[in-house]
Amino acid sequence: MATKAPGADPPDTADLGELRSAASGCRGCDLHRDATQTVFGEGPREAEVMVVGEQPGDQEDRAGAPFVGPAGRLLDRALDEAGFDRRTIYVTNAVKHFKFQRDERGKRRIHKTPSKTEIVACRPWLRAELAAVHPELLIVLGATAAKTLLGDDFRITRSRGERIELPEFDTTAVATVHPSAVLRAPDRDEAYRAFVADLVAARGR
Ligand code: URA
Repeated sequence: MATKAPGADPPDTADLGELRSAASGCRGCDLHRDATQTVFGEGPREAEVMVVGEQPGDQEDRAGAPFVGPAGRLLDRALDEAGFDRRTIYVTNAVKHFKFQRDERGKRRIHKTPSKTEIVACRPWLRAELAAVHPELLIVLGATAAKTLLGDDFRITRSRGERIELPEFDTTAVATVHPSAVLRAPDRDEAYRAFVADLVAARGR
Protein backbone atom coordinates (compact mmCIF):
# COMPACT_ATOMS: atom_id res chain seq x y z
CA MET A 1 0.00 0.00 0.00
CA ALA A 2 1.33 3.46 -0.90
CA THR A 3 2.23 5.56 2.12
CA LYS A 4 1.15 9.17 2.23
CA ALA A 5 3.68 11.98 2.22
CA PRO A 6 4.28 13.63 5.60
CA GLY A 7 1.81 16.41 6.40
CA ALA A 8 -0.50 15.43 3.54
CA ASP A 9 -3.54 15.10 5.79
CA PRO A 10 -5.20 17.98 7.63
CA PRO A 11 -5.28 17.84 11.42
CA ASP A 12 -8.64 17.01 12.97
CA THR A 13 -9.69 20.56 13.80
CA ALA A 14 -12.18 23.21 12.71
CA ASP A 15 -9.71 25.96 13.55
CA LEU A 16 -8.87 27.66 10.24
CA GLY A 17 -5.63 29.07 11.62
CA GLU A 18 -4.42 25.60 12.56
CA LEU A 19 -5.52 24.20 9.21
CA ARG A 20 -3.75 26.99 7.35
CA SER A 21 -0.57 26.46 9.30
CA ALA A 22 -0.65 22.68 8.71
CA ALA A 23 -1.37 23.18 5.00
CA SER A 24 1.73 25.34 4.67
CA GLY A 25 3.82 22.20 5.15
CA CYS A 26 1.78 19.89 2.94
CA ARG A 27 3.84 17.62 0.71
CA GLY A 28 0.87 15.58 -0.54
CA CYS A 29 1.85 16.10 -4.18
CA ASP A 30 4.81 17.59 -6.05
CA LEU A 31 3.37 21.06 -6.64
CA HIS A 32 4.96 22.47 -3.48
CA ARG A 33 8.42 22.06 -5.07
CA ASP A 34 8.06 24.88 -7.60
CA ALA A 35 5.37 27.02 -5.99
CA THR A 36 6.33 29.83 -3.64
CA GLN A 37 3.91 28.79 -0.91
CA THR A 38 0.63 27.11 -0.07
CA VAL A 39 -2.25 29.48 -0.73
CA PHE A 40 -4.92 28.59 1.79
CA GLY A 41 -8.47 29.95 1.81
CA GLU A 42 -9.37 33.29 3.34
CA GLY A 43 -12.47 34.72 4.93
CA PRO A 44 -14.55 34.49 8.07
CA ARG A 45 -15.27 31.12 9.68
CA GLU A 46 -18.93 32.24 10.03
CA ALA A 47 -19.20 32.81 6.26
CA GLU A 48 -22.53 31.67 4.80
CA VAL A 49 -21.05 31.63 1.32
CA MET A 50 -17.90 29.87 0.15
CA VAL A 51 -16.36 30.37 -3.28
CA VAL A 52 -14.09 27.65 -4.66
CA GLY A 53 -11.77 28.32 -7.60
CA GLU A 54 -9.18 26.15 -9.30
CA GLN A 55 -5.73 26.99 -7.96
CA PRO A 56 -3.75 30.13 -7.12
CA GLY A 57 -2.35 32.04 -10.07
CA ASP A 58 0.99 33.82 -10.41
CA GLN A 59 0.00 36.78 -8.25
CA GLU A 60 -1.74 34.65 -5.63
CA ASP A 61 1.34 32.43 -5.39
CA ARG A 62 3.50 35.45 -4.60
CA ALA A 63 0.98 37.13 -2.27
CA GLY A 64 -0.08 33.96 -0.44
CA ALA A 65 -3.76 34.88 -0.78
CA PRO A 66 -6.47 33.60 -3.13
CA PHE A 67 -8.02 35.66 -5.92
CA VAL A 68 -5.92 38.80 -5.64
CA GLY A 69 -4.95 38.97 -9.35
CA PRO A 70 -6.98 39.89 -12.47
CA ALA A 71 -9.45 36.99 -12.09
CA GLY A 72 -9.94 37.95 -8.45
CA ARG A 73 -10.68 41.56 -9.33
CA LEU A 74 -13.27 40.45 -11.86
CA LEU A 75 -14.76 38.07 -9.29
CA ASP A 76 -14.98 40.84 -6.68
CA ARG A 77 -16.76 43.15 -9.11
CA ALA A 78 -19.21 40.45 -10.20
CA LEU A 79 -19.97 39.39 -6.62
CA ASP A 80 -20.64 43.00 -5.74
CA GLU A 81 -22.93 43.48 -8.74
CA ALA A 82 -24.79 40.30 -7.83
CA GLY A 83 -25.46 41.70 -4.36
CA PHE A 84 -22.94 39.76 -2.27
CA ASP A 85 -20.78 41.39 0.36
CA ARG A 86 -17.33 40.07 -0.55
CA ARG A 87 -15.96 40.67 2.97
CA THR A 88 -18.38 38.08 4.37
CA ILE A 89 -17.41 35.35 1.89
CA TYR A 90 -14.83 32.60 2.40
CA VAL A 91 -12.75 32.22 -0.76
CA THR A 92 -10.54 29.25 -1.54
CA ASN A 93 -9.27 26.92 -4.27
CA ALA A 94 -9.54 23.22 -5.07
CA VAL A 95 -5.75 23.02 -5.33
CA LYS A 96 -3.60 25.11 -3.03
CA HIS A 97 -0.34 25.39 -4.93
CA PHE A 98 0.29 27.21 -8.21
CA LYS A 99 1.02 24.82 -11.08
CA PHE A 100 2.86 26.41 -13.97
CA GLN A 101 5.42 26.00 -16.70
CA ARG A 102 7.98 28.61 -17.76
CA ASP A 103 7.74 30.26 -21.17
CA GLU A 104 10.55 29.64 -23.69
CA ARG A 105 12.66 32.44 -22.23
CA GLY A 106 12.24 31.00 -18.76
CA LYS A 107 10.73 34.23 -17.51
CA ARG A 108 6.95 34.12 -17.37
CA ARG A 109 5.17 31.48 -15.36
CA ILE A 110 2.27 30.11 -17.36
CA HIS A 111 -0.69 28.46 -15.65
CA LYS A 112 -1.05 24.70 -16.08
CA THR A 113 -4.24 22.84 -15.21
CA PRO A 114 -3.79 20.57 -12.18
CA SER A 115 -3.94 16.83 -12.78
CA LYS A 116 -6.48 14.47 -11.28
CA THR A 117 -3.81 13.18 -8.86
CA GLU A 118 -3.07 16.72 -7.66
CA ILE A 119 -6.77 17.51 -7.28
CA VAL A 120 -7.33 14.33 -5.27
CA ALA A 121 -4.24 14.97 -3.12
CA CYS A 122 -5.53 18.42 -2.21
CA ARG A 123 -9.14 17.42 -1.60
CA PRO A 124 -8.74 16.69 2.14
CA TRP A 125 -7.82 20.36 2.70
CA LEU A 126 -10.90 21.58 0.87
CA ARG A 127 -13.04 19.12 2.82
CA ALA A 128 -11.51 20.42 6.05
CA GLU A 129 -12.34 24.01 5.06
CA LEU A 130 -15.89 22.98 4.20
CA ALA A 131 -16.29 21.22 7.54
CA ALA A 132 -14.89 24.23 9.42
CA VAL A 133 -16.89 26.94 7.62
CA HIS A 134 -20.00 24.87 6.83
CA PRO A 135 -21.37 27.35 4.28
CA GLU A 136 -25.02 27.49 3.26
CA LEU A 137 -24.03 28.19 -0.31
CA LEU A 138 -21.06 26.98 -2.29
CA ILE A 139 -20.17 28.85 -5.47
CA VAL A 140 -18.10 26.57 -7.69
CA LEU A 141 -15.94 28.33 -10.27
CA GLY A 142 -14.83 26.38 -13.32
CA ALA A 143 -14.21 22.79 -14.29
CA THR A 144 -11.52 21.87 -11.76
CA ALA A 145 -13.57 22.97 -8.75
CA ALA A 146 -16.64 21.33 -10.29
CA LYS A 147 -14.75 18.06 -10.74
CA THR A 148 -13.63 18.13 -7.14
CA LEU A 149 -17.01 18.94 -5.64
CA LEU A 150 -19.63 17.80 -8.13
CA GLY A 151 -17.98 14.82 -9.81
CA ASP A 152 -16.25 14.06 -13.09
CA ASP A 153 -19.49 13.96 -15.09
CA PHE A 154 -20.62 17.45 -14.15
CA ARG A 155 -20.64 19.87 -17.09
CA ILE A 156 -20.71 23.60 -16.43
CA THR A 157 -22.02 24.34 -19.92
CA ARG A 158 -25.06 22.14 -19.20
CA SER A 159 -25.80 23.01 -15.57
CA ARG A 160 -24.39 26.45 -14.80
CA GLY A 161 -26.49 28.58 -12.47
CA GLU A 162 -28.51 25.60 -11.22
CA ARG A 163 -28.89 24.85 -7.53
CA ILE A 164 -27.53 21.45 -6.59
CA GLU A 165 -28.03 19.89 -3.18
CA LEU A 166 -24.84 18.41 -1.75
CA PRO A 167 -25.85 16.20 1.19
CA GLU A 168 -22.23 15.15 1.66
CA PHE A 169 -21.38 18.70 2.74
CA ASP A 170 -24.85 19.66 3.94
CA THR A 171 -24.94 22.60 1.57
CA THR A 172 -26.25 23.84 -1.77
CA ALA A 173 -23.88 24.41 -4.66
CA VAL A 174 -24.15 26.56 -7.76
CA ALA A 175 -21.50 26.18 -10.44
CA THR A 176 -20.50 28.76 -13.00
CA VAL A 177 -17.57 29.51 -15.26
CA HIS A 178 -14.20 30.52 -13.90
CA PRO A 179 -13.58 34.30 -13.96
CA SER A 180 -10.42 33.65 -16.03
CA ALA A 181 -12.68 32.21 -18.73
CA VAL A 182 -14.65 35.47 -18.68
CA LEU A 183 -11.40 37.40 -19.14
CA ARG A 184 -10.48 35.21 -22.12
CA ALA A 185 -13.93 35.15 -23.73
CA PRO A 186 -14.21 36.55 -27.28
CA ASP A 187 -17.21 38.62 -26.15
CA ARG A 188 -16.10 39.58 -22.70
CA ASP A 189 -19.12 41.77 -21.91
CA GLU A 190 -21.57 39.04 -22.71
CA ALA A 191 -19.55 36.45 -20.77
CA TYR A 192 -19.42 38.82 -17.82
CA ARG A 193 -23.18 39.42 -17.89
CA ALA A 194 -23.82 35.66 -17.93
CA PHE A 195 -21.39 35.19 -15.04
CA VAL A 196 -23.16 37.83 -12.95
CA ALA A 197 -26.52 36.25 -13.84
CA ASP A 198 -25.30 32.91 -12.44
CA LEU A 199 -24.20 34.64 -9.24
CA VAL A 200 -27.57 36.36 -8.95
CA ALA A 201 -29.26 32.95 -9.39
CA ALA A 202 -26.98 31.54 -6.70
CA ARG A 203 -27.92 34.32 -4.34
CA GLY A 204 -31.67 33.79 -4.78
CA ARG A 205 -32.01 31.92 -1.53
N1 URA B 1 -7.71 31.51 -10.20
C1 URA B 1 -8.17 30.69 -9.22
O1 URA B 1 -8.84 29.70 -9.50
N2 URA B 1 -7.89 30.98 -7.99
C2 URA B 1 -7.18 32.03 -7.61
O2 URA B 1 -6.96 32.21 -6.42
C3 URA B 1 -6.71 32.88 -8.64
C4 URA B 1 -6.99 32.61 -9.92
